[in-house]
Amino acid sequence: MEPATHRFRVRRQDQPGSAPHPPGPAAEWRREFPYVWSEDEVVTRRDTLFFLLAGSGALCLATGTLALIGKLSEGSPAKMVPVARVGELAENRWKVFAYPDEYAQGILIHLPGKGLVAYSDVCTHLSCAVTYQPESQRLSCPCHEGLFDAATGNVLAGPPTRPLPVIELEEHQGMIYAVRMVLR
Ligand code: FES
Repeated sequence: MEPATHRFRVRRQDQPGSAPHPPGPAAEWRREFPYVWSEDEVVTRRDTLFFLLAGSGALCLATGTLALIGKLSEGSPAKMVPVARVGELAENRWKVFAYPDEYAQGILIHLPGKGLVAYSDVCTHLSCAVTYQPESQRLSCPCHEGLFDAATGNVLAGPPTRPLPVIELEEHQGMIYAVRMVLR
C-alpha cells in the first residue's frame, strides 16, 4: 500500500528507529496501517497556547494599527485655500470650490440668518456630487435621492448614513478661506 498523504509527519513502522510493537490483537491493525506517530510530533498544549497567544497578539496589533489609521484620517491637515470674498455670496446663494486639492470640491453656502457654512460636496453614500436646494435649504444627491441638512450636514433621508464632512472657514483681510476638512 502506498503511504497516504497526511498533514502530520508519520513514519512507517518498518523504518529504522521505529519501536517494535508487541504481538497481539493490536498487531492486525498495525499491519494494515504500518505507521507510528512519535510523541514529539504531536501538537502539545504548550504549542496550542503559544499559537493562541501569538494569534491574539497579532490581532491586537492589527486592531491598534487600524484604529490609529482611522484617527489620522479623521481630518485633513490644515490647508488654507481662498474660497470667496467677504460679502460675495448673497443670502441663500452658494458656490463650489476646489478643496483640499483640484480633485475634490467643497460647497460654500450662505444660509439665511446663519451665515456661511461649507461642506465637502462628495455624497457619503457613493460619492456623487451634492447640490444645494435653496427652497428647502437642503443638500440633495441626484444619484439615489440622498438628502442632507444644509445647517449641519447631517443626513435627512436616503441611503447615506454619515453626515457630510465639514470644511472649516476662516476670514482674513476680506477673504474667506477654507482651512480644514473634518470627517464625521
Ligand atoms: S451617492 Fe448620494 S445618495 Fe447615493
